[in-house]
Amino acid sequence: MTMPSLPMTEPMPGMPDRVTIYEVGPRDGLQNEAAAVPVEVKAEFVRRLLAAGLETVELTSFVPQKWVPQLGDAEELLELLGPEGLGQQRPVLVPNERGLDRAVECGVTSVAIFGSATETFARKNLNRSVAESVQMFAPVVKRALDAGAWVRAYVSMCFGDPWEGPVPVEQVVDVCLRLMDLGCDQLSLGDTIGVGTPGHVLRLLDALDDAGIGPDQSAVHFHDTYGQALANTMAAIRRGVRVVDASTGGLGGCPYARSATGNLATEDLVWALDGLGIEHGADLAQLVQTSTWMAAQLGRPAPSRVVRALAGG
Ligand code: HMG
Ligand code: MG
Repeated sequence: MTMPSLPMTEPMPGMPDRVTIYEVGPRDGLQNEAAAVPVEVKAEFVRRLLAAGLETVELTSFVPQKWVPQLGDAEELLELLGPEGLGQQRPVLVPNERGLDRAVECGVTSVAIFGSATETFARKNLNRSVAESVQMFAPVVKRALDAGAWVRAYVSMCFGDPWEGPVPVEQVVDVCLRLMDLGCDQLSLGDTIGVGTPGHVLRLLDALDDAGIGPDQSAVHFHDTYGQALANTMAAIRRGVRVVDASTGGLGGCPYARSATGNLATEDLVWALDGLGIEHGADLAQLVQTSTWMAAQLGRPAPSRVVRALAGG
């Protein structure tokens, strides 16, 4: 029997013509890897992702090396990438003004701040309360916008938190409003530990819409811990979300939330979008080749189901 290499295309009512894939593999995908990945390999990973047609690729984080040693080579990576590493479609994470200074020094013009819907994760991930982290982000966003940069605001633990349990929708909306009120261009709703389900996603998107943040301003960022990432993404797209975060191969996690596993795999997303006839610009076969190559570098198979089906990996 030959396994199909592409799905049949059958459009579904209520779905858009196009979705933007926001690739987080080099950042979220690699921030949690036990194996040290040489910076040349990271640069090659980014080049392969771009060659596969992904347009928006989040590259790295400008955080202290002691907090995330895996991404301690941010400057070197951007240097190696050269002009390809710059531009509004190559965002990097910056938590504070020191991070922004480092990023600006490298010529970065697109940054992401990252808040938390819960107090416990704010403390663990940012060493601050939610209110103190908003205070930390305010000058970062102002200076970035004044300099003409594009700014994304992540909110983590939007559905559940490993220490606090279920997170009330109103609490998430409150943090989203505080970050978007700083003037950010885009919100990314993080299901850091992958516990969300489609009805919960719709309830959050409805509540945000009621509060003045429409689905056209939001991206979704699902980790696939419980196998819900793709179902949640489809619900969000149907509700009007047009930017979906995904990680090639399904790598990912968060060093400060051990229960976070890999992100929605870009290949799994692309298979679903291709099946629905939704444009996204990426080439599935090239993504699978990239994940297979990356798996060899990391010494473990890619978690993506589509990669396993297509590459036997
Ligand atoms: P802190 O220790 O409170 O920072 O960390 P500080 O301001 O007290 O500074 C301590 C030292 O670090 C000082 O140096 C600073 O200069 C230096 P010293 O005087 O001791 O020599 N420093 C820096 N150095 C380089 N770059 C910087 C920087 N900032 C300070 N940017 C901090 C506070 C926010 C920095 C820390 O908690 C941190 O970096 N946290 C980030 C952790 C992280 O990256 N987590 C993973 C990303 S979030 C995620 O994955 C979730 C997401 O995917 C969405 C989802 O899934 O939900 C986005
Ligand atoms: Mg994440």
